[in-house]
Amino acid sequence: MSQIAEVTIDGQNYQFPVIEGSESEKAIDIAKLRDQTGYITIDSGFKNTGATKSAITFLDGEEGILRYRGYSIEELAEKASFLEVAYLLIYGELPTQEEYQKFEHEVRTHTLVNEDMRKIFEGFPVNAHPMGVLSSLVSAMSAFYPDTYDSTAEDVTDLHIIRLLAKLPTIATWSYKKSQGHPVNYPNNNLDYCSNFLSMMFALPVESYEVDPVVSAALNKLLILHADHEQNCSTSTVRLVGSSQANIYSSISAGISALWGPLHGGANQEVIEMLEAIRADGGDTQKYINMAKDKSSGFRLFGFGHRVYKNFDPRARIIKKAANEVLTKLGVNDPVLDIARQLEAAALEDDYFVSRKLYPNVDFYSGIIYRALGIPTNMFTVMFAIGRLPGWIAQWKEMRTNKEPIGRPRQVYVGPTQREFVAIENR
Ligand code: MLT
Repeated sequence: MSQIAEVTIDGQNYQFPVIEGSESEKAIDIAKLRDQTGYITIDSGFKNTGATKSAITFLDGEEGILRYRGYSIEELAEKASFLEVAYLLIYGELPTQEEYQKFEHEVRTHTLVNEDMRKIFEGFPVNAHPMGVLSSLVSAMSAFYPDTYDSTAEDVTDLHIIRLLAKLPTIATWSYKKSQGHPVNYPNNNLDYCSNFLSMMFALPVESYEVDPVVSAALNKLLILHADHEQNCSTSTVRLVGSSQANIYSSISAGISALWGPLHGGANQEVIEMLEAIRADGGDTQKYINMAKDKSSGFRLFGFGHRVYKNFDPRARIIKKAANEVLTKLGVNDPVLDIARQLEAAALEDDYFVSRKLYPNVDFYSGIIYRALGIPTNMFTVMFAIGRLPGWIAQWKEMRTNKEPIGRPRQVYVGPTQREFVAIENR
């Protein structure tokens, strides 16, 4: 017997169906609310509002659970490659060996970017933020692949999925190389996904470059941990833009722009900049912990707490362990990381943080690893985008496959009621 939700408005009783998901989540289906009652709901930030029914990612904020297509993030981070996880998210199942070899080969052989894209890139100033460059160039990809405009054809979409997965890392490294005054590197189809990215980032034409397997493995894990996170801000953006039948490149470009925000993907860059500011100010972490407790100080601690996870971010637990392993293996001794450890200890022990569930989140630790891997701070959110790309693609594909309607939220108008126009000479 399915549940019913009852609402009484102006003395009249209305009933609405309750739907239940495969993990026993429940929602009131208000599709007929306005037709039946003339009322709408309002929910700033959509904290209580589901936008869709999705079979891709399940997270439980109370229990700290995160699963991609039913597989736990802990198992995937430990046992899978990033491209295996990308295939799982996009196509719904872990690939067989044959499916994986074909998919990986397709990605490996589509990493080259049209040379005319480089001409667009060369027009950016050297200090352009890599996220603005990435969003612009991904949008520009639609101009190079006009068949994307007919984005309903399944096989065409699959080719665009391969192009995005293959070319995003190539494009992402251009900004870093330009900022160093170094020539960009071409991809090397003999390398795996993570090794190819690291090679394009750090190889120099004047010496040979060997990818450190420790660094490549850490990057693989980081990308998996960021691969999807149900209806977060950037994913909701990708779905909303895609719901107008905009092509996949434009939709992903919009997601990159949303991720750039310091309250979303930009938080990992903010964390390191915060740690560096504390170090520059003498490294007195207690001073900044006191400022964080004092609302009038205007100081905000980045990298703590989470909108959805109420007790801990499962990704943070995995990254914290990986950070310790990587820093030890690489012999990294960084004063900024010492400050991070002091802040972490405070957040895990100080009742102010514990009572407010302000535990270190995925952004707190990811910046620490990226820094140890030699990735510059302004590239941290680009790393988040590379990781999140398969999730955005999977969510866009699900929305399109399910033929979901164009997203068009309502509002409650609170502006001036009707008034007459006054000629300018009388104002
Ligand atoms: C994410 O992974 O997208 C972030 O944790 C933000 C979120 O899920 O709201």
